[in-house]
Amino acid sequence: MDKIVIHGGTPLRGEIRVLGAKNAALPTQCAALIADSPTTLRHLPQLSDVQTMNRLLCGLGCEVTGERTLIIDPTGVAKGSLEASYELVKTMRASVTVMGPLLARYGRARVSLPGGCAIGARPIDQHLRGLEALGAEVTLSHGYVETRAPSGRLTGARFKFDLVTVGGTQNVMMAAALARGSTRLENVAREPEVVELALVLNKMGARIRGAGTPVIEVEGVDSLSGIDHAILPDRIEAGTFMVAAAVTRGDVLLRDAPLDHMHSVIESLESAGVICEPTPEGVRVIGPDELKPFHVTTRPHPGFPTDMQAQMTVLAILARGRSTVTETIFENRFMHVPELCRLGADIRVSGNTAEVHGGTPLSGTIVMATDLRASASLVIAGLVADGVTEIRRVYHLDRGYETIERRLRPLGARIERVTGAPS
Ligand code: EPZ
Repeated sequence: MDKIVIHGGTPLRGEIRVLGAKNAALPTQCAALIADSPTTLRHLPQLSDVQTMNRLLCGLGCEVTGERTLIIDPTGVAKGSLEASYELVKTMRASVTVMGPLLARYGRARVSLPGGCAIGARPIDQHLRGLEALGAEVTLSHGYVETRAPSGRLTGARFKFDLVTVGGTQNVMMAAALARGSTRLENVAREPEVVELALVLNKMGARIRGAGTPVIEVEGVDSLSGIDHAILPDRIEAGTFMVAAAVTRGDVLLRDAPLDHMHSVIESLESAGVICEPTPEGVRVIGPDELKPFHVTTRPHPGFPTDMQAQMTVLAILARGRSTVTETIFENRFMHVPELCRLGADIRVSGNTAEVHGGTPLSGTIVMATDLRASASLVIAGLVADGVTEIRRVYHLDRGYETIERRLRPLGARIERVTGAPS
């Protein structure tokens, strides 16, 4: 297993390009299944999750070629097995988002139940209730979900989600795209990646309105065609780099940062005293000498994103005074806290709120990555900790950040990857 070794204390200076969004790439790769001809996707980040999704698509009978630019040919799918195996789904729960497209296009799908993950139970009950509302028969057996459209085609319906779910919205929206008649989905997720998926489906020939609002309306069509589409930039990667610039008292230009999708993140950064200057290329971020304590609560978009919660906790550590970070989306998303405390942070978790007493010095040591965004927070902390920080099990990090060490080094970070290290 690889580890990342960081010598802290250098301010980040220069510019970095924000790459394509993992959480836009994955559902868009799934959407390629719904078309009856090949789809070309551009600006894909080179991430293990994207490669896992490609393996899943190949297992379903797709032909997948390319890397940064991907060509997904779904024409062989009907001859393949319409099954997403446990091995792949347990590696990446986003695999469940093949259910909607397979059901819509082929009338059936067999997907392993994802099981929980480090940050929570993450059930898919809302996905299944939505598909049932469209007429799907759903049966659970031997750890798999079998879904089938009894007449071979789903029927449009009105469905209200009990809670806001990004994946559930995406799965059911894709299923509705080829259903017979109209569908109205209420209490849907409004994330930019949901809006992006609706855009992709409409480019394919779907008729979807309202993405980005609490209600999505879909007029089912008979078929969809493959397209050529460039993935939007990653707002979470951008936010992660913005925090890194802020805590190191750096000055960094983030090219292609999707500012329109980042109002809540920018608002929170500015409340801590970080300077965020929009520029024609993206945004310039300047870390102040003194950061101010702040309070942030994660919410569905357009609220503060849960995927930025761990990174903001590090900003709070550097802000002298009492800050609070409250997590309302996942039930166990504070696993970075014990590791940050080993670096010297003073954080107490009570219920779903982490109370951070900022201003304590951080000193490097060996820490363990536990999940994707927790590992990002450890990298940021290592950039400011005194001495050497060694982050183990960085396969978590590689799920969502493309060669982060190679991209931070030109900004002055003293960071390297050691391959084959003890876990
Ligand atoms: C997406 O996960 C993202 N992943 C997550 O990013 C992100 O944290 C999450 O949305 C919230 O924004 C991708 O887009 C690939 P949810 P998703 O369904 O769709 C509960 C990252 O770090 N829920 O919106 O799985 C669920 O347990 C990852 O990039 C149900 O109870 O998230 C959670 O508490 C982590 N029943 C909440 O809803 C359901 O049927 C939000 O989950 C579905 C969800």
